[in-house]
Amino acid sequence: MDKSKKYCVTSALPYANGALHLGHLAGAYLPADIYVRYLRGLGADVIFICGSDEHGAAITIRAKKDGISPREIIDKYHALNKATFEQLGISFDHYDRTSAPLHHETAQAFFKKLIDKGGELEERLSEQYFDEEYQQFLADRYIMGECPNCANPEAYGDQCERCGTTLSPLELKNPKSMLSGATPILKETSHWYFRLDKHGDWLREWIKTGVLDGQQHHDPKAWKNHVVGQCLSWLDDGDGLQPRSITRDLDWGIPVPMPGAEGKVLYVWFDAPIGYISSTKQWAADNGKNWEDYWKGDPDKLQLVHFIGKDNIVFHCIVFPAMLKAHGDYALPVNVPANQFLNFEGRKFSKSKGWGIEQHEYLEEFADFPNKEDALRWALIRNLPENKDADFKWDEFVDFYDKDLADKLGNFINRVITLTNSYYGGIATASSATVPDNIKGLVESLCEDIEAYNLKAAASTLVEIASWGNQYLQDTAPWAIRKTDPDSPVIALCISTSLQLVNLLAVLCEPFIPFTSLKIRNLLNLPAVKTGELGEVIAKLKNGEALLPAGHQVGQPEILFAKINDRNDKSRLEIIERQKAKLEAILAAEQQSNPEGAGNSTIQQYSPMKDEIQYDDFAKMDIRTATITAAERIPKADKLLKLTVDLGFEQRTVASGIAEQFTPEEVVGKQVLLLANLAPRKIRGVESQGMILMAEDGEGKLSFVQAGEAFGPGLGVK
Ligand code: 2FM
Ligand code: ZN
Repeated sequence: MDKSKKYCVTSALPYANGALHLGHLAGAYLPADIYVRYLRGLGADVIFICGSDEHGAAITIRAKKDGISPREIIDKYHALNKATFEQLGISFDHYDRTSAPLHHETAQAFFKKLIDKGGELEERLSEQYFDEEYQQFLADRYIMGECPNCANPEAYGDQCERCGTTLSPLELKNPKSMLSGATPILKETSHWYFRLDKHGDWLREWIKTGVLDGQQHHDPKAWKNHVVGQCLSWLDDGDGLQPRSITRDLDWGIPVPMPGAEGKVLYVWFDAPIGYISSTKQWAADNGKNWEDYWKGDPDKLQLVHFIGKDNIVFHCIVFPAMLKAHGDYALPVNVPANQFLNFEGRKFSKSKGWGIEQHEYLEEFADFPNKEDALRWALIRNLPENKDADFKWDEFVDFYDKDLADKLGNFINRVITLTNSYYGGIATASSATVPDNIKGLVESLCEDIEAYNLKAAASTLVEIASWGNQYLQDTAPWAIRKTDPDSPVIALCISTSLQLVNLLAVLCEPFIPFTSLKIRNLLNLPAVKTGELGEVIAKLKNGEALLPAGHQVGQPEILFAKINDRNDKSRLEIIERQKAKLEAILAAEQQSNPEGAGNSTIQQYSPMKDEIQYDDFAKMDIRTATITAAERIPKADKLLKLTVDLGFEQRTVASGIAEQFTPEEVVGKQVLLLANLAPRKIRGVESQGMILMAEDGEGKLSFVQAGEAFGPGLGVK
């Protein structure tokens, strides 16, 4: 950190068309928050900027789907996302929105400046997809088709979300309009193009060597390999640096400020990154500051850092820097520490499948979970997708909490505060106590790791310091010395040294788990860690000064983290188990509805109990005795049998996923139980009118659930 520099740290502006899930948090928001809190701790001049990305076809598609206006969508999700970030301690200095008038003005002025400069933008006629039924040109996101790279049939006109390839709509095979579902036609329209092709040479040099305009702008080795790799492969791809159209025919967005451009708006990826600038402007206006200090002037004094997910690398490392350079005067990012993706229990987050958990859902469902904010922050920090994709698992959430926070950090702090109270009435005694030298080395490496965006490593150093504290207490065993030599100065020294460590931990953990930091400071009877305090602590460590003066009175002990896995109190574990049960239910439903595809179910021997239901929920099910009267295989569906089931008063057809374990001959004549009022659904072309109840053992072996031979078909089961 350099105190003479201005740091402008940004996190990707999230689209305001939906709630954010844990993958978003781990990608671009939590890492930035740690970095910014750390910089604040050192007393840096830093601002943390973000806001909602409220334009673009994603918003209009969502609005159309929900039958409401884009404004209603963005108002709802802007408020939700802003509030959940706050609750999770993401400490933006300013969270703006791109529908704000100041942003519209800023983006339009940016565009005009590029027009006025000449040579950066050009108007071109081109053929674009047009939906004849809706009489509308189709923005890239309104076109779906087959990805030329991975054959994903549901790739969008701008990107394939399966393989990550950036696309143009004309590259899609079998394009379909998402408005009407019809094949769109190509029709001429005029748009403005940004001459990205003119920026290739300096971009290549800048990305490869960090040199910009003949000056060393940044250290290219400080950039993550996967970020540089993605940029270079894009720059080396012949098609990468083509002029890019930066306007669209759409009725939602920032109007193109040119005569004759009615019905055209700026492309969302043109206006969104300018949002970092307009958000800074608003922050400056609100705080009596000069926004330009953070964006313009001597490049040596400006530290612009963009935290993003890997899907945004090209826009932040190539397109936006080229826009800034084309405009002139602006700083370029000194680093873009993009993260890879976080998966959830082995799969991608999927809202439609209910796979994953959104930030606000977490806060609601964990409302009674102690330390819920830091518990989540910590689980994500220990598993950040910094250089490769990572997988969030509830079992690991429990382990990180119990092993790191409860066993190491919490336990150490509790022991020290308890001993201080019971031996010295809560007063730190020995004045000679300082932080041991080996710990100073660990603090240095923790700081170096944060500055290098290795936040996972920094977090593990934090745990190491707490572990050292526990070991030190254990090895010194002041309680044993007290029995044999109660006047030994070693006792006071041990307790006071430990108290130094407790205060050190309170300061060091603030960027990671700020709520806990505050609690530790309460235990120490000290106010919250303040801006610049980390810097002061580091200076004291260097000078061998104490972090807590002799004679300081600490508070009463209090358990910071009660373990989740606690035999005597299952309340916390139950909250986790409910989350796991939701996933098991999804897997089970998939197994039932698509027995062929649901091969990787993780159901264990005893599948976890599902959420409690009311009697009324049970009473809704119409379960009846029935007899299978005919059975046949379904062509090309190895796991399915098509069954005819007699209910006594009517016949049903049921597609059942039992073909791997039962032949058609074996099942004819079997008496079964049928869930008879399940809504019919088509499975492999067969309309399935109910579900046969089966019991399943740990190995997946199935057995029919039966009422007994004496009961004929059609009888109700209660
Ligand atoms: O991918 C996204 O969620 C975009 N809304 C990110 C925009 S980042 C910046 F350019 F504003
Ligand atoms: Zn693809």
